[in-house]
Amino acid sequence: LLLLLLLRQAGPAAARYEPNWQSLDSRPLPGWYDQAKIGVFIHWGVFSVPGFGNEWFWWRWRGVPPFVRPEQPFVDFMAANYPPGFTYADFAREFKAELFNPEAWADTLSRSGAKYVVLTSKHHEGYCLWNTSHSFNWNSAQVGSGRNLLAELAAAIRNRSDGPRFGVYHSLYEWYNPLYLTDAQNNFVTQDFVRYKTMAELYELVNQYRPEVIWSDGDAGVPEYWNSTEFLAWLYNDSPVRDSVVTNDRWGFGTACKHGGYFTCQDGYNPGKLVSYKFENAMTLIKGSWGYVRNLRLTDIYSLDEMLETVVSTVSYGGNVLMNIGPTSYGVIPALLEERLLQLGDWLSINGEAVYNSTPWHLVQRDANATQLVYYTSRPDLGSVYAFLMSGPPAPGAGPVRLASPKFAAPGANATLLGCPTAAPPVRLAYRPGVSGVYLTLPGQANCPDLLSGPGGPWVVKINGLL
Ligand SMILES: *[C@@H]1O[C@H](CO)[C@@H](O)[C@H](O)[C@H]1NC(C)=O
Ligand SMILES: *[C@@H]1O[C@H](CO)[C@@H](O)[C@H](O)[C@H]1NC(C)=O
Ligand SMILES: *[C@@H]1O[C@H](CO)[C@@H](O)[C@H](O)[C@H]1NC(C)=O
Ligand SMILES: *[C@@H]1O[C@H](CO)[C@@H](O)[C@H](O)[C@H]1NC(C)=O
Ligand SMILES: *[C@@H]1O[C@H](CO)[C@@H](O)[C@H](O)[C@H]1NC(C)=O
Repeated sequence: LLLLLLLRQAGPAAARYEPNWQSLDSRPLPGWYDQAKIGVFIHWGVFSVPGFGNEWFWWRWRGVPPFVRPEQPFVDFMAANYPPGFTYADFAREFKAELFNPEAWADTLSRSGAKYVVLTSKHHEGYCLWNTSHSFNWNSAQVGSGRNLLAELAAAIRNRSDGPRFGVYHSLYEWYNPLYLTDAQNNFVTQDFVRYKTMAELYELVNQYRPEVIWSDGDAGVPEYWNSTEFLAWLYNDSPVRDSVVTNDRWGFGTACKHGGYFTCQDGYNPGKLVSYKFENAMTLIKGSWGYVRNLRLTDIYSLDEMLETVVSTVSYGGNVLMNIGPTSYGVIPALLEERLLQLGDWLSINGEAVYNSTPWHLVQRDANATQLVYYTSRPDLGSVYAFLMSGPPAPGAGPVRLASPKFAAPGANATLLGCPTAAPPVRLAYRPGVSGVYLTLPGQANCPDLLSGPGGPWVVKINGLL
């Protein structure tokens, strides 16, 4: 008996997960993910070569007759610019990535303040960005750049002490893979595509590159067809990343927003209220496309304010933001997207305290009745609530900012403006008898030179003693 007791106390046996949702869903999400808040998504592939429409180029050009008609602008684009008989596969030769400098990417990604990166290892087109044994002549090591793009980026990111974690997007299905189409024709009772392609790739990716995020997509088919639960049980129990890996929720029809790791529900998801699960807002800085498009206009790209509104509104409800960029086929992050990432990093270098490691404020998250739109987060570990003034500094002479939501007077409370030197006058908090809310008098812009010359975007007031 003693021996048994000793054995039991020798350490908590690692939980083993069974290949069913009830068991898999019970796995606690590794803590780093909720703390991270910000990730960068990278859509890169053969679709970056035509760079027209969006990353669904192949599908939109060919369609799936007779069910899905080809889209005329895509048919016309090909007829006008490419010889008859030119196939989508012919674009792969031009995916040369000849100016791809993984260390330059790693530098930009680190400076963005993102804590994780998710690269499309394979999109629905099926082309793999790593040196795979399971996608003969349809991968970057064999056609196009002749390089193991995924391995190079992972190495450059991991080579930095301040680098984000490395993760992969992976599409379960491939639009036109004959094995998949045959399985589909057989009503998914055969699994050749899953056995020889999808799962073979996923195990290879995890064993060789140890991604800490598996962002699954393209889950057209029931989970039983994909054998998702078998893979996840292995991933959580026995894989080299079992302790730190996180996954999303796209593992077969009906799993989104129900099963898996964190929930993405649909693209650009933000519930706009507190929810009982961890969610991620996967959004793209290029409106209407995840992949690079060559005829980008300035207005197609999120402005700084739109980007930060997305970040703040998502984080205030407890979500992460996975912000997408689309590099060119020659391997460069377009300068406008690079600028957004660096602006995000600048803003986070001042205001990151209110973002990373934050939790939603239990009392209110969005305050539409303030003198300007205000979102809140909280840091119970620091005893602080943060008010994000979404329009930035109030106009000179506009008077104090009224926050409608702190509904009770908290006499011991005090406040500071993030990024304003401690020597500046403090934020004055005032309560008015019979009026709910609190009035903030900011230190005066002249006292906060770093904020004025800084990145712009919301100003953040840190309030102590309200929790
Ligand atoms: C891909 O792997 C094969 C087999 O290990 C190797 O011979 C080849 O050099 C690799 N190519 C690249 C680009 O890494
Ligand atoms: C790692 O960093 C060192 C020093 O900055 C650099 O010389 C080296 O080329 C880097 N290696 C990779 C794989 O990025
Ligand atoms: C899927 O899982 C079932 C049950 O474990 C197994 O019988 C089947 O062979 C698996 N299929 C593939 C493609 O791995
Ligand atoms: C916001 O203000 C409007 C109009 O004064 C009022 O009807 C509403 O109840 C207020 N909402 C909150 C949450 O205070
Ligand atoms: C602000 O409030 C916090 C929490 O109530 C308290 O610990 C801190 O000493 C206060 N700071 C100042 C400058 O009053």
